[in-house]
Amino acid sequence: MAGAVREQILIVDDHAGVCETLSMMIEQLGHQPLVVHSGEEAVEMIALGGLGLVVTDLRLPDMDGIEVLRRSREMSPEIPVILLTGYPTVDQAVQAMRLGACEFLTKPFKMEILERVITRALEEHRLVHENHQLAAKANRLAVIQRLNAKLNRRVRELTSLNRISEEITEAEDNATLFDRVVELAVDLTGAQRVSLMLVTPDGRSLTVRSAHGLSEPLQRQIEIPVGEGVAGSVAQSLAPLHVTRGSALSTSPSRLQIYHSPSFISVPLAISGEVLGVLNLSEKHGGEDFTSEEFHLITSLAAKAAMKIENNALYESLHLNLVDTLRSLVSTLEAKDPYTKEHSKRVTQVAMMIGREMGLPETDIESIEFAAILHDVGKIGVRDSILLKTGRLTSAEFEVIKTHPVIGESIVEPLNLIQAERDIIRSHHERVDGTGYPDGLRGDEIPLLARIVAVADAHDAMTTTRPYRRAMGQAYALSEFKRTRGVHYDPDVIDALHRTLRAEADDRLAVM
Ligand SMILES: [Fe+2]
Repeated sequence: MAGAVREQILIVDDHAGVCETLSMMIEQLGHQPLVVHSGEEAVEMIALGGLGLVVTDLRLPDMDGIEVLRRSREMSPEIPVILLTGYPTVDQAVQAMRLGACEFLTKPFKMEILERVITRALEEHRLVHENHQLAAKANRLAVIQRLNAKLNRRVRELTSLNRISEEITEAEDNATLFDRVVELAVDLTGAQRVSLMLVTPDGRSLTVRSAHGLSEPLQRQIEIPVGEGVAGSVAQSLAPLHVTRGSALSTSPSRLQIYHSPSFISVPLAISGEVLGVLNLSEKHGGEDFTSEEFHLITSLAAKAAMKIENNALYESLHLNLVDTLRSLVSTLEAKDPYTKEHSKRVTQVAMMIGREMGLPETDIESIEFAAILHDVGKIGVRDSILLKTGRLTSAEFEVIKTHPVIGESIVEPLNLIQAERDIIRSHHERVDGTGYPDGLRGDEIPLLARIVAVADAHDAMTTTRPYRRAMGQAYALSEFKRTRGVHYDPDVIDALHRTLRAEADDRLAVM
């Protein structure tokens, strides 16, 4: 095997005859001899690298072979060095071996002995070299495996964190959010028992708001005073708790009994140091311990959930504030004009009555209640000189008035209303024959709730006194609706209005 690779072998000797003999022998062995005659030259060649073996005489013109050996060991410790000498001393032999020479041969020697020594030295060198390479490779592999495992863990963690973020962001209301948090905790850790507890309004105890692996009656039954038990202490201290079999020894037995589980996690949901609740996980699938990776994930989950709860509360109050502001704007606007005072309120009441009479689902009635009050909110954008004008409007002025549904729609945009509610604001001046505004929609193209508000709006206009005329009364309104039924207004909506008015009149008669 040694002959399979052609190695470069450096011969260091100032005796030409010796060099020649050695060169021939080395060539016969299938290797390449390189000859130098001094120690300095030898050191230079060794420094260049690429040698498989150095064979040096002990006595050289500029330095001795021991020095060549020493410098060679310093530069390339893996290259074997054979020392030759005609005048050996025990001291030199000992020194040479100490420095790591692989052989110390005394001249004259038999060629076959030198052949054997060279072959063995080369073989040893090859093995050492291979060993080094293998070790380096194994080392690299171990490093790669470690890095890979770390990378995989990180990817898994990031994927989970990402999922936490997405699912939590998507949860629109708190009830959905609580269920989602529990589901995520189960999915991420394999916990068989998870409970999300919130602090009661009086701040004294924790009750279960969503859970997995706990029966409904048990969920309702549980009420833990803040400061007591595992969840109660976590709520009070705001310190997340991760108990494993090892750490369980230091935890009081009473705490463990609560969970019947050797390993559990209990983390607080808190915003700026204020506790909102606690998320508890126990009974991991297979009876294993929760890992620190899982603990980390659950801590992030709780932090995200707490933030979302705060956001929801903020959004809700902002939303309510904005709605309140718009409503008061509408009533201020209507109060400026004695003729339209409370107009939107009455339109809303009549539209809700029509909706109920038509058997619409309660969600639609709620939409009417919410949006009809704002149907004319766009009039905020119309100048008072036009809005409060007592005489007839010019056609140019009327064009300005006609912009109010579109302005209204853009005003309520930040409220994120559902489509049916936006439709009421944008389309309450459409007419079924297509002569309305702003889009000239016809018949069923006009959203139903907008068709209802259109009738309620017209009814209020006719039954209240306006600057240019006195109230025309219920009878006039009904006859007018008969004329415009199916032309301006949806016949089904008109019929429903008739029925409700008749029922009201009957009620009044009954009272009299
Ligand atoms: Fe209007």
